[in-house]
Amino acid sequence: MDQFVTERLTAERLNGSHLADLVALHQDPDVSRYLGGVRSAETTKAYLGINMAHWDRHGFGLWVLRTTDGAFAGRAGVRHILVDDVDEIEIAYAFPRSLWGRGFASEVATALTRIGLAELALPSLIGIVYAGNVASRRVLEKSNYLLERSTDRHGEDVVIYRIQR
Ligand SMILES: CC(C)(COP(=O)(O)OP(=O)(O)OC[C@H]1O[C@@H](n2cnc3c(N)ncnc32)[C@H](O)[C@@H]1OP(=O)(O)O)[C@@H](O)C(=O)NCCC(=O)NCCS
Repeated sequence: MDQFVTERLTAERLNGSHLADLVALHQDPDVSRYLGGVRSAETTKAYLGINMAHWDRHGFGLWVLRTTDGAFAGRAGVRHILVDDVDEIEIAYAFPRSLWGRGFASEVATALTRIGLAELALPSLIGIVYAGNVASRRVLEKSNYLLERSTDRHGEDVVIYRIQR
């Protein structure tokens, strides 16, 4: 589970060497627009620690993605998230602006969904998306997630999509 590949990307388990790439990703306002806003280097360092601990505790979590030439291509994963006091498992993904619109999110969402439902045998997975994040909503719909409900998360309108095993 430490690594997986898709047609055009490789994925490696999150580790401390990924900090600089993640800091740069999270400092792009376009990328962070629907991720709670631009994050400082310190905030991303804390995020990295939390998500590495998630791996240690649960045996799955976030991966860093690379294109076939080895270039950083974002991050994606399967992880626990508390939604309205319920422990859920979400799929998550974020790509550098330069890679948008090439089908990478759809490719990765398909892989994450297979990992979550088939390999981890989870009963269901969710995607939580800012209501206005049309591209991410489309990614989930293309992966056969169904719109479940709207809710408020940290003061933002979000929608929850779900897929069952
Ligand atoms: C959202 C994001 C993951 C989409 O990644 P991507 O690789 O560009 O997505 P894809 O190329 O797989 O496209 C997915 C679908 O959305 C559509 N789409 C893309 N941008 C769109 C837009 N602005 N408005 C409407 N549809 C859009 C695409 O046309 C495609 O649908 P189609 O196959 O039916 O044509 C990417 O923009 C990103 O990393 N954003 C920043 C982080 C983020 O928001 N992550 C998700 C948090 S829930």
